[in-house]
Amino acid sequence: MCGITGYTGVNQAGPILLEGLKRLEYRGYDSAGIAVQGDNEIKMLKATGKVSHLVDKFEAEPDFKGVCGIGHTRWATHGIPSDTNAHPHLSADGKFAVVHNGIIENFAEIRAELQKYGIEFKSETDTEVIVQLLAYNYKGNFKKALMKTISRLNGSYAIGVISAEHPGTIFAAKLSSPLLIGVGIGENYFASDITALVSNTKDVIDMDDGEVAEITPDAVKVYDHSGNEINKEIRHINWDIASAEKSGYEHFMMKEIMEQPQALKATIEPRIRDEEIVFEELDLDMKKFNRVHITACGSAYHAGCVGRGIIESLCRIPVEAEVASELRYRDPIMDDKTLVIVISQSGETADTIAAMKECKEKGATVLAIVNVVGSSIAKLADYCLYTWAGPEIAVATTKGYTTQVALLAMFAVWAAGQLKTISHGAYASMVIDIMRLPERAQRALDLNSRVKKLAEKYYDNQSLFFIGRNMDYAAALEGSLKLKEISYLHSEAYAAGELKHGTIALIEPGRLVVALCCYEKLFEKTVSNIQQVKARGARVLAVAHEGNRSIFQEADDVLLVPQTDPLLAPVIEIIPMQLFAYYVAKENGCDIDKPKNLAKSVTVE
Ligand code: F6R
Repeated sequence: MCGITGYTGVNQAGPILLEGLKRLEYRGYDSAGIAVQGDNEIKMLKATGKVSHLVDKFEAEPDFKGVCGIGHTRWATHGIPSDTNAHPHLSADGKFAVVHNGIIENFAEIRAELQKYGIEFKSETDTEVIVQLLAYNYKGNFKKALMKTISRLNGSYAIGVISAEHPGTIFAAKLSSPLLIGVGIGENYFASDITALVSNTKDVIDMDDGEVAEITPDAVKVYDHSGNEINKEIRHINWDIASAEKSGYEHFMMKEIMEQPQALKATIEPRIRDEEIVFEELDLDMKKFNRVHITACGSAYHAGCVGRGIIESLCRIPVEAEVASELRYRDPIMDDKTLVIVISQSGETADTIAAMKECKEKGATVLAIVNVVGSSIAKLADYCLYTWAGPEIAVATTKGYTTQVALLAMFAVWAAGQLKTISHGAYASMVIDIMRLPERAQRALDLNSRVKKLAEKYYDNQSLFFIGRNMDYAAALEGSLKLKEISYLHSEAYAAGELKHGTIALIEPGRLVVALCCYEKLFEKTVSNIQQVKARGARVLAVAHEGNRSIFQEADDVLLVPQTDPLLAPVIEIIPMQLFAYYVAKENGCDIDKPKNLAKSVTVE
């Protein structure tokens, strides 16, 4: 996600800001920029791509001087990654520059209002309204203009602002987005993330929602939302850089597992209005299609397998899911009545891109579900829905997968509404269950310490099976992949009813079978498969819905997850499986964030 930082003091701000931005790189970003006050004007530098490109530009500009400035790494949300959309943004009169993390929900309204007054906007971002409104409100008092400006903003923000007319002063403000002030001697800082501060100072002020900081080289004053100065404590931190980047977690994978409630919320909430699913970006007539084909790789394909079940069940339209590396060479039968859904966290997976091109050539309409804004898949698709999971750093996807499934479920409900294959009651109930996914994901995360203990019990099983039926089987595919890719243990996902057709030969005493049992319609059937493996000496770890008592008689160990609609269960039941994979890998001493032989983005065939 975006990162912001700022410095005011006696040293040149440029190198300090660039160093801060490098520290924020781990969060993922697509462009970066800095602005400094110098000679009564604001100077800016921006670059698409790496911070190193920005450093090259900075080094080629010997006159880029100033002792007070702000910096930003951008993860595109409103508008493609480009120099124009990169932060900082400058007001039309050149007097103010802003960096911003978060989303201004009412930006369109403010923008239209300012345009009526003749103010010209340069970028496609929501952020630019902040700086233009600030300049419009400015009548000589920086603080007053800023307070007035932020009182108009809905959404979330952590912002840093400088003014050409107020050398050495930075204002920073926060609402629902992280912001810290770094306190030094004769120099002060701000940042969205402790990593950008720890190499300069370990004394920080935690800003709370609604607060505004006035930062000068010798003082930090903090005001409440009415502009009254308040006392804030200075906290001394003793984190080093590596632990700071992971917000205190030992691995990015755990940080990202824990971020899932937030990632789901960001993906779901903006698209539900008055209990209806709204996809502003989707001008698609579902009646045009007689079939849907889903394609992707790895975990994204597994999300597609869940999506197949949900779309088919709600829209009553045939849906196939197929790995992209197969589809691309199979000469598939499709035409202009086929909707192809491609799913990709990175948006850069080579096989997925090739498969999608093949489908487009055959006349299919392509809808992409992608996490990285402006990625190749997002650009090539006819339509694109973004998961707002934020950057994923660990090679093994976690929040990428759950947000993909949530978005597929939303699409299915939306499409079923259009096709009139869902009753009003069922639509409303699905929307409620979708809205409750973040909270239920949070409750599933409460199983953390219990899952850790189970991993300590089972970590030395050299070969495991994940079984389930219907939606549970789709989730089993992902649970098994998660385990094998980071722990290097052999693991297979099997449709529970298929075991007896051969694979049951591999079940022997002590073998661990993970049985996913959240698809209640087929619970009894899965139980009979559990009994079959238990009869051959297997140990069974079951995942079932809260309230399920009978599972305790069947399995050796049970993890109960919050109940949700059976079609949505994979989003929740996968969470203890992610934790299980994590702790098993940890017990086995594996390199969790960078498993051997794997890459985060597979851009080659
Ligand atoms: C597994 C994993 C991979 C990816 C696959 C597709 O944890 O991350 O299986 O899901 O390589 O990547 P994207 O989604 O970037 O297309």
